[in-house]
Amino acid sequence: MTLPFILNGEDVVARVRSGDRLSEVLRESFKLLGVHSDCRCGRCGRCLVLLDGKLVPSCIVPAFRVRGREIVTIEGYAQTNEYQDLVAGFKAAGIETCGFCDSGKMLAAGALLERRARPMPQEILEQLSAVPCRCTDAEALVKAVQAAADFRARRHFSRGH
Ligand code: FES
Ligand code: FES
Repeated sequence: MTLPFILNGEDVVARVRSGDRLSEVLRESFKLLGVHSDCRCGRCGRCLVLLDGKLVPSCIVPAFRVRGREIVTIEGYAQTNEYQDLVAGFKAAGIETCGFCDSGKMLAAGALLERRARPMPQEILEQLSAVPCRCTDAEALVKAVQAAADFRARRHFSRGH
């Protein structure tokens, strides 16, 4: 079947089989290899994407569900100012993410900041728990996302003046 949807800001159409998962379509039809496919059960956070702005593991989303909806992968998100705010926030907090978790952390934090301009520490930790990581301490993660929120707010302020 054909599947029209919006991918990283562009109208696209994919040919999919019933039973295809979104992660497979993104990797195989669109070569978006920032979407990984590891656990394939929604646990590792390696295949996270934004579906209509909401963070979802694409390995558990049936492809047909995205008909007419909007998907943003890390490849698209990395082109945004919001992504740059997060990069700056993580740098300011002294966090270096690894290739395993980098895209998931950015998308998870970005989705949270869309909903909450000033998230509480607990909200940040809950959101980032979608991307299991034992190498970064919780306090640093909170600082990174709060710093990103500051960068974002400053950018919006300077744009408005
Ligand atoms: S591949 Fe692990 S959450 Fe999707
Ligand atoms: S920094 Fe990537 S998994 Fe911990």
